[in-house]
Amino acid sequence: MSAGPRTRVAILISGRGSNMVSLIEAAKAPDYPAEIVLVLSNRPEAGGLAHARSVGIPAHAIDHTTFSDRATFDAALDAELRAAGVELVCLAGFMRIFSAGFAEAWAGRMINIHPSLLPLFKGTHTHAQALAAGVRLHGCTVHYVVPELDAGPIVAQAAVPVRSGDDPDSLAARVIVQEHRLYPAALALVAGGRARLEGERVVIDDDRGAADAALLSL
Ligand code: GRF
Repeated sequence: MSAGPRTRVAILISGRGSNMVSLIEAAKAPDYPAEIVLVLSNRPEAGGLAHARSVGIPAHAIDHTTFSDRATFDAALDAELRAAGVELVCLAGFMRIFSAGFAEAWAGRMINIHPSLLPLFKGTHTHAQALAAGVRLHGCTVHYVVPELDAGPIVAQAAVPVRSGDDPDSLAARVIVQEHRLYPAALALVAGGRARLEGERVVIDDDRGAADAALLSL
């Protein structure tokens, strides 16, 4: 049986791109429902760009410092995504806040990975936030992007324990392992049409999909 058309995905990065690598690796499987057609970075020095090129994926920077304002940068990004026929955008360590217009234009077609169990610990320094709050479980979340930061409907989450003696670095190291499992699973659910937006929530009907969307590493 031949697989249906694969969803055309762009990955947006700002740095090392380890989550990008996990998505690229997953998309090598013939039955994966998404193909990575473009990688863009707002930082020319982002390490992930060279990796993407090395595996034959078009990858380049749109340097945000060369744009006069946020809206102009977002318009350039939007033009690149449309020109490449991108259907779904994955943010993977992309450290720019979008204008409301861009977020609305891609609403329902853009997901992000955030290193906490949302709605806890939005913004930056999430591992330090978790340690300061004294939570026993921490983790990561893949969610749809909405104009409000780190607030969109949740697709999938992975939980890890917080251990005594953890510092932000040791906790980050435990979480990133799960990020690399979770993001490919979440993208497969979204691109394969098994996770669908219903208002403010994401609904996953099949048991296997629900299990893929709730990972525990205890
Ligand atoms: C990850 O922790 C991700 O959750 C956060 O930024 C980091 C990016 O890491 N949004 P990488 O560039 O994917 O290695």
